[in-house]
Order: sequence, then structure tokens, then C-alpha cells
Amino acid sequence: MSENRRPETMQRINTKELADAFIAEQIAALKAQIGDKKVLLALSGGVDSSVVAALLIKAIGKNLVCVHVNHGLLRKGEPEQVIKVFRHEMNANLIYVDAVDRFLDKLAGVSEPEQKRKIIGAEFIRVFEEEARKLDGIEFLAQGTIYPDILESGPVKAHHNVGGLPDDLKFELVEPIKFLYKDEVRVVGKALGLPDNMVYRQPFPGPGLGVRCVGAITRDRLEALRESDAIVREEIEKLPSVPWQYFCAIPDFRSTGIKDGKRYMGWLVVIRAVNTVDAVTATVPEIPFATLCAIRDRIIASVPGVNRVAWDISEKPVSTIEFE
Ligand code: XMP
Repeated sequence: MSENRRPETMQRINTKELADAFIAEQIAALKAQIGDKKVLLALSGGVDSSVVAALLIKAIGKNLVCVHVNHGLLRKGEPEQVIKVFRHEMNANLIYVDAVDRFLDKLAGVSEPEQKRKIIGAEFIRVFEEEARKLDGIEFLAQGTIYPDILESGPVKAHHNVGGLPDDLKFELVEPIKFLYKDEVRVVGKALGLPDNMVYRQPFPGPGLGVRCVGAITRDRLEALRESDAIVREEIEKLPSVPWQYFCAIPDFRSTGIKDGKRYMGWLVVIRAVNTVDAVTATVPEIPFATLCAIRDRIIASVPGVNRVAWDISEKPVSTIEFE
């Protein structure tokens, strides 16, 4: 059997009991693999890396060193939540790296989407590498690889690993959830006591809001995007059922508005919400007009610089899910 093939006998983890059994098994396996050595983990706060962190905290406690890199492209409240949950509630050994200026300086003036993604990916590895070099005695690198990452290749995989570290920084890999499907990761995360908004988080690209701040990123437009995104999520989450993914984008575009009887140029926020099974095709669900209006009113009233809100009803194909 290939070491990257899910064991055929492995049961689908869909109950708390099965999750508890998986957790107990993994803790024992992690203890056996790692002993009293140290493990490094890039902890984004996404469900996969959070579940890996929680498992390792239970297995090896402070010998897990989590590094949370704030690249400035996370959603509102995310870095704070990582610190609260892992440092304060789980008592983890967490290094928080404020790399916002580094990333935004590197991205200044860059408008081509692939170029932006490359810069964010490369800078992430550099920051992580710098932190890894400051630490002594690390022998293992933990990763939130999940089974679909092994089965598929492509963009979804990119944020799951910190492959690309230089040769002198090669660690032995620890991948405790590599045979789990996403729904199983969530069941395990819930059993580990992670908060619901971490466990049931919608997909979010590794390059984060950098993708959705279309064109060359500026700090003011990025802030407008972060605020608008928080409003979109809050309002949509009031609905009885939420779409698979919902967010907004802010193109590098201004149009006219009127304020205090004067013409001014403001940004456009585009609401995007899709339903999909596999992210390969996607449809656009109906969103109640009252919800759209509530989003519009809150954004226009509270987000500086925005004077127009639109709803993107494009399906995939031909549009991609992300608006970049
Ligand atoms: P597109 O825009 O290609 O997106 O239709 C399909 C799904 O993939 C997500 N996405 C990413 N996920 N790293 C990720 O982990 C990335 O770089 C990335 N880019 C897009 C996107 O949000 C959608 O769910």
C-alpha cells in the first residue's frame, strides 16, 4: 500500500465517537513519532492547520511551535482569534509574526493576479524560514495536508504546505490529517473543541484578501475590502441557510458619487456568493433582496471610500469563483 493511500479499512469519521477514537489514535501515533523532539507548524487559523495544531498540542504540548504569519491579507478578526484560541485558551507555544508591512510593500504597484500570488507565496516562505532559523532543535514540520490535497493538485493545495524551504531547512514531515476528507476534518475539529467559526469556516485562498483586492493593492482599498467582507459575512450568516462561499471583492476602479451636494469618486464593492460541490462548477444562489439592501446600507454608511455596491451573478464556468 502506498503511504499516501487512505487505508481501505478506514471508516468515514462522521460522529463524535469516531472523531474521539481518531484523536486518541493520532495522539498516540504523534507521541511515538515525535518523542520529546520539537515540531514547527505554520498556523494560518484555517480549519486544517488549526486541527493539526490542536492535535499536536494534545500530543506534545509546548514542544509544538506554531508560527502565525499575519500577512495583512487575512479577514477581519482572524489574527486576533488565532492568538485568543491557541495562545490563551489552548496554552500553545505560538509565535505571532506581524509581517503586514513587508507583504504590502512587496505588493505595492503589482496588479497582475499571478504575480501577486507569487509574491505572497514567496514572501510567506521567506518569513517562515526566518522564524524557523531563529529556533533551535526543531526536527519536524507539521502540515495540514488533507486527502484531497494528495488526490488532486492545483491551487487548492498551494496554501497547505510550506514546501519551498531551502535544503538546509528540511524537516521530517508530520501530517496527522492527511487521510481525512474535509468533512471529517471538521468533525475532528469540533471534537477537539475548536470554535464553530473556525471549524465551519468557508474556503479562503492562501493569498487571502490579496486575491479579492483586485489590481494593485493599496492599504486603504484593502481596509475597505476587509470591512466590507465582514459586513457581507455577518449579513449572509443571518440567513437560515448560507451559500457554500460568500465574500466580496473590490476592483481597482472608481466611479462617481454625490456627497453633500458634491461629486466625488468612490470604490465599488462586488458581493459574490456561490454554491458548489467541488468548486469546479458553481451556481449563484438567490439572496433575499432585503439582505442585499442591508449589506449595501451598512457598507455605504460605514466603509470609507465606497460609494457603490453590486451583486455578481456570474456562474462558473465561465467566471471563476474568486473575483481576481
Ligand atoms: P476559482 O476562483 O478557481 O476557485 O474558481 C475555486 C476555489 O478555490 C479557492 N481558491 C483557493 N484556495 N488557495 C486555496 O486554498 C488558493 O490560492 C486559492 N485560490 C482560489 C476559491 O476560494 C474557491 O473556493
